[in-house]
Amino acid sequence: MIKNKSLVSITDFSREEILHVLDLAAQFESNPNQPILQGHIIASLFFEPSTRTRLSFETAMNRLGARVIGFSDPGVTSATKGETLKDTIKMVSNYADLIVMRHPLEGAARYASEQSRVPIVNAGDGANQHPSQTLLDMYSIRKTQGRLEDLKIAMVGDLKYGRTVHSLIQAMSDFNPTFYFVAPDELKMPNEYKQFLDERGIRYEEYTDMADVLPKADILYMTRVQKERFADLMEYERVKNTYVLHNAMLDDTKDNLKILHPLPRVGEISEDVDLNPKAYYFKQAENGMYTRMGIIAGILTGM
Ligand code: CP
Repeated sequence: MIKNKSLVSITDFSREEILHVLDLAAQFESNPNQPILQGHIIASLFFEPSTRTRLSFETAMNRLGARVIGFSDPGVTSATKGETLKDTIKMVSNYADLIVMRHPLEGAARYASEQSRVPIVNAGDGANQHPSQTLLDMYSIRKTQGRLEDLKIAMVGDLKYGRTVHSLIQAMSDFNPTFYFVAPDELKMPNEYKQFLDERGIRYEEYTDMADVLPKADILYMTRVQKERFADLMEYERVKNTYVLHNAMLDDTKDNLKILHPLPRVGEISEDVDLNPKAYYFKQAENGMYTRMGIIAGILTGM
């Protein structure tokens, strides 16, 4: 169904294709070692730092039996000599069957997909999109709530630069959500995404106080303030600690509430939340491996 497709933006996959990847992820979670990609070579090109995305993608590639080439630091590549992204992608697409790429520039993944002979999976491009994160977030939501439809999803923190929330609202808009956006004025959800929701008749409400949304949310999606996207570090210092979730704040929340976070966290979820059964962010990161197995296997085999 998704054979040979690039995944640059979450909107590249239809509702049915998204659900198909989630079903594949469930299969891989129940049986994680399936070497169905023996003989395949996959490139993992990380022009920007990563822990979870890179390691879960590369673990997924290894569990599927593929061989992996690539780099985690562009400083060891000919980009330091001035080689363009276009030339780099043209080279690598002659070597590998699939390219997973993270890049700091918005639009870099789309550009790479236009240069490449093989499918590109966007592992994050600047503040733009992080579609594999969206799929693992949706897998985590469906697994914990038993459904994707009709959920109340609170998003808290950096809604301006946080690429994970941008991708997630687009994908979830097919499932009749209600969104609660909680952010300081400097980090509000950009108008283009609110316009996207308006055009589809999706409900959203904007808040500045997290306490206003905690009792009514099914999913609490916390985000890190993205220091690396700020031109003015004084502004970052002003807003970085606006929201900190503590365990005591969860007392009056719904029984089914689950707390998600794409991670890394840098203080916005206190460690006293970790032992609360509503904390799901570490399991969410594990789900990333199964979901990425589903993405890679689906693109390369058409399963
Ligand atoms: N969630 C996420 O993208 O984490 P990394 O930056 O560690 O890959």
